[in-house]
Amino acid sequence: MPSPIRHYRITVYPGDGIGRDVIDEAVRVLDAVQAVEPGLKLEYAWVPWGVQYYREHGRVAPADFLDQLRGQDAILLGAVGWPAELPDHVTLAPLVELRQRFDQYACVRPAKLLPGLKSVLASKTSGDIDLVVIRENSEGEYVNNGGRFKVGQPDEFALQTAIHTRRGIERILHFGFQLARTRRRKLTMITKSNAMRYSYVLWDEILDEIAPQYSDVVTDKQHADAAVMNFVRWPEAFDVVVASNLFGDILTDLGGVLGGGLGLAPSANLNPERTFPSMFEPVHGSAPDIAGKGIANPIAAILSAAMMLEWLHEPSAANRIRAAVEKCLADGHRTPDLGGRLTTSELGKQIVAAIG
Ligand code: NAI
Ligand code: MG
Repeated sequence: MPSPIRHYRITVYPGDGIGRDVIDEAVRVLDAVQAVEPGLKLEYAWVPWGVQYYREHGRVAPADFLDQLRGQDAILLGAVGWPAELPDHVTLAPLVELRQRFDQYACVRPAKLLPGLKSVLASKTSGDIDLVVIRENSEGEYVNNGGRFKVGQPDEFALQTAIHTRRGIERILHFGFQLARTRRRKLTMITKSNAMRYSYVLWDEILDEIAPQYSDVVTDKQHADAAVMNFVRWPEAFDVVVASNLFGDILTDLGGVLGGGLGLAPSANLNPERTFPSMFEPVHGSAPDIAGKGIANPIAAILSAAMMLEWLHEPSAANRIRAAVEKCLADGHRTPDLGGRLTTSELGKQIVAAIG
């Protein structure tokens, strides 16, 4: 009996620089998966937003861009940014707005060192590094809340205040606990509650309230300064890590490098209630230094596409992608960032060929 069709509308938003190269490969891989996965049907809506769009229209995305995205099942983003021509706060503004307006409050960044890759940590191998950092993506230290006073005067000052809400903390912790249940059942919450006695003590109290609902998950708390040290010396001790916006930002860069580097690191910006589409993107940016050279590593984008399929409840399709990437890396197929000689599209072709 043929499988029923499972149809998803995906906005493909390559963006700028290497975003375009790596997304081309990610879509080729998605097409290869569709060809072998019974019933899976992906319908793409490509959007040309970014610096090229700016040259033609005087803005990086159309005024109604959120309306164009709203009804979609997911967004696959490359990267945006072209600092030689436009300041980053202009090119990145739609992304910030999108994450906020679509309440993509859980930023999920796995760091897994795949077999065959050498760790930056001399004594660690692939079995030691398999963690996921969940960064609170909607409030905390990155809300636009503050001001500059007495500008240019000797007593000038700046005020920037973080916002931590009970609702925001509760929902990110529930998300983390639920993810931990699908993994090794350990959750580590990162704060700085020894020094920041209002905001992070609230995090501590809410963790204590919620943890009993997840008595099957081991809970741990660490201060951010200890956590960065422990990521380096004992990465194997971490499974799911939940952190506020600022600490999550810092820890995910460290996680990225532990997982083999920016060329491999995928991420998801999730709206867990599924009221709005979620967005999947490599952790890296548009890499102007290598843009146009055809040497960007497409794996971070390809693994982001796998995260997207997982989110769409297509685990078999997601696993096909991960298995193909792992096989290619184990076989020694690499782009220059990992010491290899393949171009972006040559590695993409190897991964497509390994899809089974
Ligand atoms: P970047 O991530 O673009 O590049 C950092 C370094 O890593 C560069 O040397 C680059 O060549 C290398 N690299 C990154 N991805 C790679 C890949 N797939 N394969 C091989 N090498 C890779 O960060 P950078 O240079 O700080 O930012 C460049 C632009 O990207 C800026 O405009 C920035 O604002 C933007 N950006 C956009 C993001 C997004 O769209 N979400 C995220 C981060 C940066
Ligand atoms: Mg960052």
